[in-house]
Amino acid sequence: MTDAPQKSHGRKAIRPTLKPRELITATPDLHGVWKAKILTLFPSAFPGVLGESLTGKALQDGLWQLETIDLRQFGVGKHRNVDDTPAGGGAGMVLRADVLGNAIEHAMEGVRGNWPIIYLSPRGKRMDQPMMRNLARADGVTLLCGRFEGVDERVLEHYGIQEVSLGDFVMTGGEIAAQALIDATVRLIPNVLGNAASTEEESFSSGLLEHPQYTRPAEWKGRPIPDVLMSGHHGKVAQWRQDQSEELTRTRRPDLWDALQKPAKD
Ligand SMILES: C[S@@+](CC[C@H](N)C(=O)[O-])C[C@H]1O[C@@H](n2cnc3c(N)ncnc32)[C@H](O)[C@@H]1O
Repeated sequence: MTDAPQKSHGRKAIRPTLKPRELITATPDLHGVWKAKILTLFPSAFPGVLGESLTGKALQDGLWQLETIDLRQFGVGKHRNVDDTPAGGGAGMVLRADVLGNAIEHAMEGVRGNWPIIYLSPRGKRMDQPMMRNLARADGVTLLCGRFEGVDERVLEHYGIQEVSLGDFVMTGGEIAAQALIDATVRLIPNVLGNAASTEEESFSSGLLEHPQYTRPAEWKGRPIPDVLMSGHHGKVAQWRQDQSEELTRTRRPDLWDALQKPAKD
């Protein structure tokens, strides 16, 4: 489909080329720049919060790319229907396999390299930091946002789509989960965060939760900042932070703590 609806967010690629084609396509591409392609019934939900702060600036600066593809435009008939009743009966509607198939094939046209397709789904593997690290190393990702009762299962099987969940609860659509996934991934792309050290020290990077943070004023509502943090003694500060991280992880996330105690395989 040549007139397929899609919208690029962020900077346009304007590079010297003998082929002017790229300057007039709906989605000029920044070659080699990580890209998220979003299949959604609500393209206006993007970039949403991703257009703010560091992720928004990085999008403008061409450090990552976002393209939305409107599922409705692949709908069938005069009313561009995208859903139908569940086979076997039951409540709600299901996104049609033919509609999703055409949309996915359009999205994956010309895609190269390591480029997973993910369906945001409460049935999926729960998002975690290692998953985001892997996605940040990929060339890009195509995200399918479900609505209603979800999508026709055959689509997931046919395209080998991974299901990924934001958590053990049910939302009305996959768009918020998609934005969470993109936010957590994009901040791991080099230069998106000003200070690279901030991703090295934060929660989950070493398998531990982060220690508590404090800033001015030195005393607030009778609560002083712990003395050690004001001591200027770097060694003691580092030890205090490590102890706090371990204690927080042990008490709040015994699952993470237990995983750390197990000797690494091999
Ligand atoms: C109402 S939900 C469908 C729930 C589905 N009938 C079930 O019970 O598993 C509609 C859409 O929201 C999205 N969604 C809901 N909860 C989610 C979660 N925890 N993580 C990721 N996506 C979610 C999915 O894309 C899903 O297709």
